[in-house]
Amino acid sequence: MALSIFFTLTLSLLSHVNAKEVVIAENGYTFTTVFDGHKPHIFPYIVLQRPSSSDLILLDSVNSTFYTAQLPISQEIVFTRLSGDGSVGYSDGDVALARFAKPRSFAFDFRGNVYVADKSNRAIRKISAKGVTTIAGGGFPEKSSIKDGPALNASFSNDFDLTFIPGLCALLVSDHMHQLIRQINLKEEDCTLGSRSGLGAVMAWTLGLGLSCLLGLVIGFAVRPYITSNTERPQSLPLQRDMEALPNQSGEASSDALLRRQKRNC
Ligand SMILES: *[C@@H]1O[C@H](CO)[C@@H](O)[C@H](O)[C@H]1NC(C)=O
Ligand SMILES: *[C@@H]1O[C@H](CO)[C@@H](O)[C@H](O)[C@H]1NC(C)=O
Repeated sequence: MALSIFFTLTLSLLSHVNAKEVVIAENGYTFTTVFDGHKPHIFPYIVLQRPSSSDLILLDSVNSTFYTAQLPISQEIVFTRLSGDGSVGYSDGDVALARFAKPRSFAFDFRGNVYVADKSNRAIRKISAKGVTTIAGGGFPEKSSIKDGPALNASFSNDFDLTFIPGLCALLVSDHMHQLIRQINLKEEDCTLGSRSGLGAVMAWTLGLGLSCLLGLVIGFAVRPYITSNTERPQSLPLQRDMEALPNQSGEASSDALLRRQKRNC
């Protein structure tokens, strides 16, 4: 009896899994390791590009530290410490001296300010040119308030994530434990059109990048057939890498490298 129930259960579980799993492999993507955190003892958790800049910001959630590096990514990419000193804590003020407690996610506004879901501090922190501040939660942990009002009075569970929603000029916070989505409106100057380092710059940046990508790709594709038909020769990946580092070695290498670089930048 028990055995038959076991078999029925196993079978139904198996058929359930089989019925649900559909994998469609889509070819055409490549995979490259661009950074290994072992030597510098960095644990990449999330990496994002700061809008209208060539800054990459990396969050190491294990060490509660933010790092930054410059695009483009090369084999020698170096992440330098931006904020957090490796220890868990709660300290606003000077960016270099600030401390966080297991931050989980972060987002940028159009000005490049960083908003941090500082998980274990149950706070939302802001990293700006002026320093690190707390904009929500954190300050009053004993006040468990899930009612709406001043963001500093809000309390979060220690399991939440945030994203920046440009259309609202707001952060949306998904509080997993409280089963809530909460909106924190940001300051208009951090989202509005026309502010020098605001939306205008981001749009110009996006547009510029998009145009240069498109042009580069079109030119790359247009030039490629001529050159590759002249020098038909297979290349290994390391060779291509070297060629890419040295411009204008041969037509093929440089045009391919250009194309690859364009694609990568898009
Ligand atoms: C990050 O934390 C790990 C484990 O605690 C530690 O071994 C490592 O040295 C830290 N990395 C840095 C850059 O402080
Ligand atoms: C927010 O917290 C402050 C400081 O504790 C308190 O004075 C204020 O009444 C609170 N506001 C609301 C709407 O709860």
